[in-house]
Amino acid sequence: MNLALINIKQLVTVPAQGQRVKTGTDMRELGIIENGAVLIEEENITWIGRMEDLSMGNLKETDILDCMDRVVMPGFVDSHTHLLFAGSREDEFAMRSNGVSYQEIAERGGGIVKTMSHVREATKKELKKQARRWLTALLQHGTTTVEVKSGYGLDRDHEIKMLEAINELNKEEVMTIVSTFLGAHAIPPEFKGRKGEYIREVIIDKLIPYVATKGLASFCDVFCEKGYFDVDDCKAIFNKGKTYGLIPKLHADELSASGGAELAAAVGAASADHLEHISDAGITALANANVVGTLLPGVSFFLNHRYAPARKLIDAGVAVALASDFNPGSCMSYSMPLMMTIACTHMQMSPEEVITAATLNGAGALNLSHERGSIEVGKKADMIILSIPNYKFLPYHFGENHVEKVVKNGVVLEF
Ligand code: NIG
Ligand code: FE
Repeated sequence: MNLALINIKQLVTVPAQGQRVKTGTDMRELGIIENGAVLIEEENITWIGRMEDLSMGNLKETDILDCMDRVVMPGFVDSHTHLLFAGSREDEFAMRSNGVSYQEIAERGGGIVKTMSHVREATKKELKKQARRWLTALLQHGTTTVEVKSGYGLDRDHEIKMLEAINELNKEEVMTIVSTFLGAHAIPPEFKGRKGEYIREVIIDKLIPYVATKGLASFCDVFCEKGYFDVDDCKAIFNKGKTYGLIPKLHADELSASGGAELAAAVGAASADHLEHISDAGITALANANVVGTLLPGVSFFLNHRYAPARKLIDAGVAVALASDFNPGSCMSYSMPLMMTIACTHMQMSPEEVITAATLNGAGALNLSHERGSIEVGKKADMIILSIPNYKFLPYHFGENHVEKVVKNGVVLEF
């Protein structure tokens, strides 16, 4: 089916022009077309331009979507989430409001292993049912591509259950879902004090070969942090993963400067995520190695932790992406517009930069920017129609969902 979006007040294209990501001052170049139009054939964008250059006579047999007074931009690419989970952790949220820290809660048996217990108890069907609700909500809030990690199973069978659920959802749902293996998210209780054995027996010997051979994940992620996995653990895991074609990604420098960013650069990771405590050497390393710096402002906001140095990163030439990190412990929100507002107010990013970071650079962090993340001829038609007068309203008018319609792979979604 062919589709034409016409009378678009502001068409925000975020042109990649063949690049994987935007860096530096280019992050502010949104490629705006006033009074624009987009033509789509099947799943793909075939023409973009100004209304005055569109010949309406050629639009027979084409569905027309009149976007009068609307802003149209690429759908958000949320490149870091843990949205497949069971249960919830509102009790921990309440404890933190009483001054107990995220780390203390983990030491008392809460945190990641609490959700692990819930996920182990849930069937694959139950996990998928809950995830489907989240996926619909994400689409309604403008996210058209999402990365989802395992990491709440923490043993062979439950990690595989999670990854199978993620892959089945990708086939069954309209959302584009990218799967990441995160067996090294925490040390499960049955391996307490025996981290090395968990890494070798479960992750390296069993899971990486199985996950890669079955095609269950594109990326391999590790939580590189004191009390979790150190740089040497990460190296061992990534080396094995790379021999099986899994691309490294990293939870880096979240709670302390752990050398995570430097490691991400050394192993050629697609992205280094969090970076709240990144060192100056880490910033230079990411810039030189073209590793995307994925910032998760919702976590700093929700845990009342320090924010990542977005300005320093962008000014040093790091391609910055924004993601939600949606999970029940450290960020119980999937709203990309909320992340964008927090990035503007707490990380000194501009409205233009947060739009690039939430679209094209997010796609770059997933090695998907050749087909998604911008509105350009030849790319997949993933677009959102916003009832705002101009793009600056998106981070400015926060706490409200401005997404009116979503076009996913060329199809207008009805909710
Ligand atoms: O990205 N930092 C580690 N992992 C998640 C938190 C997961 C959880 O608390 O359940 C994060 O913040
Ligand atoms: Fe995370």
